[in-house]
Amino acid sequence: MAGPVKIAPSILSADFSRLGAEIEAIEAAGADLIHVDVMDGHFVPNITIGPAVVKALRPHTKKPFDVHLMIAPVDPYLEAFAEAGADGITVHPEAGPHVHRTLQVIRKLGKKPGVVLNPGTPVEALDNLMDLVDLILIMSVNPGFGGQSFIESQLKKIEAARKRIDATGRDIALEVDGGITPQTARRAIAAGATVLVVGTAVFQGGPSQYSANIAALRG
Ligand code: DX5
Ligand code: ZN
Repeated sequence: MAGPVKIAPSILSADFSRLGAEIEAIEAAGADLIHVDVMDGHFVPNITIGPAVVKALRPHTKKPFDVHLMIAPVDPYLEAFAEAGADGITVHPEAGPHVHRTLQVIRKLGKKPGVVLNPGTPVEALDNLMDLVDLILIMSVNPGFGGQSFIESQLKKIEAARKRIDATGRDIALEVDGGITPQTARRAIAAGATVLVVGTAVFQGGPSQYSANIAALRG
């Protein structure tokens, strides 16, 4: 186990009228990374933010921007997110036919490549990609919205991804995203997760609660 679990608050659940201040507040409350959910209304049934907003948010924190691209096609936008200040760029194999090349491009842009699997995508989708990534993200909800319930069946996939990572001997982060609460956090960690993406359970109660909410997730 690579030390204490990292918490990546998802700004999808933040107050979108004050995103800069919200990012400063979750950094002060103990966030390890900032999870930025990018949605295009095509790959997922919701629309959020693009590179211009990521660029505007960049000066508000030194913490890594963990950018989750729920967009298709994804290749035309990689450079814009890299320039806007993304540190990690995580892409879905379901979003297009060339995920192997997409991950190579992210590496060439000097960013940490990540691959993310939807709940319906088998863990075998990781095979042939393990040498290209610094992060694997297992969705424990169907992407598009915060506030959904954790999909229990994904626990087996987290365990299977953990085994694949251990077999590489490489330091690949295993991130879980969706429906994470203090209760489900413990189960995701037990299954092998090292990073937890948390929206609702971090932002509930407003800024005065963020520190306690994050602490409660670390167990
Ligand atoms: C869903 C996003 C998740 C979501 C998590 O498509 O990828 O990051 O914001 O929110 P909660 O923690 O509320 O499930
Ligand atoms: Zn996400």
